[in-house]
Amino acid sequence: MLLGCKDEKKTDMPETTQAKTKSSIVKSDYATTKEGVKIEKYTLTNANGMKMEVITMGGDIISLTAPDKDGKFEDVVLGYTTPDLYLDGNPYFFGAIIGRYGNRIAKGKFTLDGKPYQLTVNDGPNSLHGGKGFDKRVWTATPVEGDAPALKLTYTAKDGEEGYPGKLNVTVTYVLSNDNALEISYEAESDKNTVVNLTQHSYFNLSGNFAESIESQELELKAGKYLPVDATLIPTGELKAVAGTPFDFTKAKAIGKDINVADDQLKKGLGYDHCWIFDDAANTLKSVGSLYHKASGRYMEVLTTEPAIQFYSGNFIDGTKDSKTGGKYQKRSGLCLETQHYPDSPNQPSFPITTLKAGEKYSTKTTYKFSVK
Ligand code: GLA
Repeated sequence: MLLGCKDEKKTDMPETTQAKTKSSIVKSDYATTKEGVKIEKYTLTNANGMKMEVITMGGDIISLTAPDKDGKFEDVVLGYTTPDLYLDGNPYFFGAIIGRYGNRIAKGKFTLDGKPYQLTVNDGPNSLHGGKGFDKRVWTATPVEGDAPALKLTYTAKDGEEGYPGKLNVTVTYVLSNDNALEISYEAESDKNTVVNLTQHSYFNLSGNFAESIESQELELKAGKYLPVDATLIPTGELKAVAGTPFDFTKAKAIGKDINVADDQLKKGLGYDHCWIFDDAANTLKSVGSLYHKASGRYMEVLTTEPAIQFYSGNFIDGTKDSKTGGKYQKRSGLCLETQHYPDSPNQPSFPITTLKAGEKYSTKTTYKFSVK
């Protein structure tokens, strides 16, 4: 079903900048869960022909194409080849909306307003990505009218769901802008004081060939500090300077350059799986880094209102799942750039606060902007 499309503005635009295609959102049936719930798929196409597929399970982005320097569109996000893995737990969190609390909370415990809470523990001794989190929930999708294709996803988490206090209404909107940016806005409101840390778990590989490791892609992070972790990947509380360590991405650097250096933190993460703190802590949409694949020329800039980012170099991908481009996904087939607040903040008073007070509005934005150079 064609839900919306915008006319090319032929009369307003000079010949050279005229849009090549009409933007559109098309809804289709995707699959049905074991419980009989129908999962829908929405295909968003922007005026340049960039395409993104989103399913209502987890708000998962299952594909996203971007042009290379010759204008060739290829899929730049990892995904499963069959619906069952999305429907049945999404073991790698491919493309998913993450919440209620992205990243780890130590032992799944925290205290809020003097009251102790116990969350679902699902990652060694810790709670990761909200337990049976928002990635494993069915969202309601509504296309949004505008110049570019946009999809609004809503989900209501129950009071007490996975141990968190407060009924939380969440809205995540994806816009595929006509300047080739995926713009994501996250909004939430709770009826009780709670903790919230929402993010997106797409695995990028700008080569468009998932058999090619992400190690040759160049990452830049405008972050002079990162959070060292303990053996269970919980931050120790220290903010460590990246200067002189393998964690220095202040100047664009190939991800593989230092990834195998003998370093206790790299050993703990089996590679990079850490939170970097942006130099600019402003709660405004600012450029915080980029990813570049030289051979294709694909360049992705990351902008966010968030103070930090979890850069995860795909260390737990174990070679068991089929790849969209053939073979199996391997360690380092893709990487995540999860903009967020710091992990375990509810237990670490020195970290920026992640409490959302009853009736207050949670609102953050992150943009992944694609171009070539
Ligand atoms: C996050 C975590 C990683 C890993 C992935 C999912 O990025 O930080 O440790 O759990 O999610 O595999």
